[in-house]
Amino acid sequence: MLIDSYDRVVDYIRVSVTERCNFRCQYCMPEKPFSWVPKENLLSFEDLFEFLKIAIDEGVKKIRITGGEPLLREDLDKFIKMIYDYKSDIDLAMTTNGYLLKDAAQKLKDAGLSRINISVDSLKPEIAQKIAGKDVLKNVLEGVEEALKVGLHVKINMVPMKGMNADEIVDILEYCKERNMTIRFIEYMENSHASADIKGMKSAELLAHIKEHYEFSDEGFDGHSPSHYFKMPDGYKFGLIEPYEDDFCKKCNRIRLTAEGYLIPCLYFDEAMSIKDFIQRGDIKNAALVLKEVVRTKPEKNRWSESSDEVSTRAFYETGG
Ligand code: 5AD
Ligand code: SF4
Repeated sequence: MLIDSYDRVVDYIRVSVTERCNFRCQYCMPEKPFSWVPKENLLSFEDLFEFLKIAIDEGVKKIRITGGEPLLREDLDKFIKMIYDYKSDIDLAMTTNGYLLKDAAQKLKDAGLSRINISVDSLKPEIAQKIAGKDVLKNVLEGVEEALKVGLHVKINMVPMKGMNADEIVDILEYCKERNMTIRFIEYMENSHASADIKGMKSAELLAHIKEHYEFSDEGFDGHSPSHYFKMPDGYKFGLIEPYEDDFCKKCNRIRLTAEGYLIPCLYFDEAMSIKDFIQRGDIKNAALVLKEVVRTKPEKNRWSESSDEVSTRAFYETGG
């Protein structure tokens, strides 16, 4: 079992399979980065899988594939199947922008994927375009429908931004509720890569806004999910992800692996250690030691909850959010 210095069990890895993305979301990657990591520096799926086997053997129970946009990487379903075939009871999930999902959903499901989170920040084509930097809405919504159709368990992410999509909070909640999909509203996390004019919305404001339309009660947290849930009288639950809250990191159970093989103990900070050389040399023992060291050095909490002028420089498109 992997346990950090604050007695948190780490049993969840988020694997970014590419930093590349076909969207330019305002809150993540409004401009194309100066350069992408050259393809030859990426770990192959075989290498990533070698590392994941170590992590699974050390007690990891949940793996989420992220990006950039993971569906830009060819043969992703084969990678998912490799993991599934190694441990079929692993909780296998993916986060995607949904653009390429319509054609991929069935293959992903057949490969062993069970859950998928899709970003839907707007239901208005022109606002979706403004946020993602291109006309994306039709594809994304078709992707959502297909994911539901093939039987994936779907959650929707929305980052509410003032003067942009904040007036759609209730509409998006309704859209999800009608389809029995969980919606999670994510507080915009400031970072140096995002567009400078974003005005995020904090959870108190968001809840006050939803309260004008619905009754709900506070359900607290569900296991180790960072999502704070609220329940409506008809039983529907929506979630809030509040990294600015002081206790956000108390139950954190995750680390992140980038497509280049860096293991990252916390989304906020730049610290990372590479497992690449050890994995490529077949040195399982040392790769496992790096894993343990990264878990050991996991910081107690992020700094979004602190009122300082410091801004996170960690790129979400490298760490997969
Ligand atoms: N703040 C909040 N959420 C973010 N995401 C990406 N960047 C940010 C940010 N700066 C989330 C989006 C997307 C997921 C991949 O990561 O909600 O759904
Ligand atoms: Fe791409 Fe996701 Fe970042 Fe948007 S949030 S630019 S979809 S990686």
